[in-house]
Amino acid sequence: MTSPIGVFDSGYGGLTILKEIRKELPQYDYLYLGDNARAPYGTRSFDVVYEFTLQAVKHLFEAGCKLVILACNTASAKALRTIQQKDLPELDPTRRVLGVVIPTVESLGEISKTGNIGVLGTPGTISSGTYDIEIAKFFPRFRTVSEACPMWVPLVENREYDQPGADYFVHKYVEALFDEEPEIDTIVLGCTHYPLLLDKIEAEVAGRATVVTQGALVARSLRDYLERHPEMAERCSKGGEVKYLTTENPSKFSELATLFMAEPVSAERTELV
Ligand code: DGL
Repeated sequence: MTSPIGVFDSGYGGLTILKEIRKELPQYDYLYLGDNARAPYGTRSFDVVYEFTLQAVKHLFEAGCKLVILACNTASAKALRTIQQKDLPELDPTRRVLGVVIPTVESLGEISKTGNIGVLGTPGTISSGTYDIEIAKFFPRFRTVSEACPMWVPLVENREYDQPGADYFVHKYVEALFDEEPEIDTIVLGCTHYPLLLDKIEAEVAGRATVVTQGALVARSLRDYLERHPEMAERCSKGGEVKYLTTENPSKFSELATLFMAEPVSAERTELV
């Protein structure tokens, strides 16, 4: 039986990935799951992020998904490897869980000219060191500096991302990154919530570096994956439909998601256990 591709995030951030995936692969069906009731994940411990992410993956598997995208850097950084290596063989070795960090890192060689990379992410992603490690693996000569931005996800989850109050925190974290390394030529927005702050971030960066968002990179990588794995592509249903699940109030989710996706969204409430 075929089934939708699962897309998971702690909250609204994964919608920035889903939007680009749908542009690249409109023929597939998608099931989006936002754990809004427990967002943000970025300030939580390894164990808790792993536990919540595994619950979400199991939930999407139970809904039939054969392929799940962790559209969340925090979950990709803190839980993906354990899920792939320890849980998947027990749950169902024929299913796949993919993340957003590797597709982003892989493309930096095409983007950066000097190899001076700045990464902005949640405290969880930055303290995990995942970006530093993966960038060093792919591009040993690159230099990476990073800055945690603990206030940015709450600004998005509370719909304050386009308000004047957000300017202060955008200035604060972007300038902290440049203080660390003024020669950065590429800034990775290593959190799927951050594209919602993109206008303000670009204004603050003011041409000093290229700002990289992940959606199109993840979408391109997923298309490549499905081309290389036709057996998985065949197990994913193709009707061009999207369903949304949230662990919070579905009307609140639907209202904001309708704005982000620029089309009517009607979410259902679900529980993760
Ligand atoms: N969208 C998640 C990420 O990419 C945000 C994590 C959070 O909930 O703090 O990291």
